[in-house]
Amino acid sequence: MTKKMFDGAKELALSKGKKLMVIGDPCSGNYFRFMSRFFPNCEHGDVTVDLYGCDSCTKMDINDIGSWNVFEDGSFVIMETGVLGFSKDIVKVLAEIKRVSGGDFLSAGGNRGLTWELFLYRTYSKDLVYSMSPFDSRVDEYYSGLKLGRKGSFRVKF
Ligand SMILES: C[S@@+](CC[C@H](N)C(=O)[O-])C[C@H]1O[C@@H](n2cnc3c(N)ncnc32)[C@H](O)[C@@H]1O
Repeated sequence: MTKKMFDGAKELALSKGKKLMVIGDPCSGNYFRFMSRFFPNCEHGDVTVDLYGCDSCTKMDINDIGSWNVFEDGSFVIMETGVLGFSKDIVKVLAEIKRVSGGDFLSAGGNRGLTWELFLYRTYSKDLVYSMSPFDSRVDEYYSGLKLGRKGSFRVKF
């Protein structure tokens, strides 16, 4: 899924003559890092945003809404993997993604499965709030996800 989405985002950026922003360090996590050397799912973008990312990343907190100002309107195609689940205010974060991407946004979504959604997510991070659904702005109108801990769901028009 991530590989397909990433390829789609890369093609879209090429065809529109836009730069590619990846949100979520593709090098993060030992397991993912090991796997990705052999089965690359996602590479860095022209800009890669991740608060705790590697040296190639722009270390930005997606929840610091003012920090998005460094990116111009419509300047990037944005591809996200596994970070928007940390959003404190998903409507505000999504509004910045829409502004910077000019509407060209793809996301591979978050982890799913009963045990993950009920309690395993807490062993990963106390700051993780959502598991997002995959999204492709070329076909999807609504961005949606589950609130972890089985606390409901949300759906926002993109
Ligand atoms: C599940 S990993 C996703 C990494 C990789 N793209 C993947 O799919 O395997 C979550 C990433 O979100 C980053 N992160 C967590 N909170 C963040 C925040 N508030 N702003 C930006 N990045 C954040 C972490 O540093 C971590 O690399």
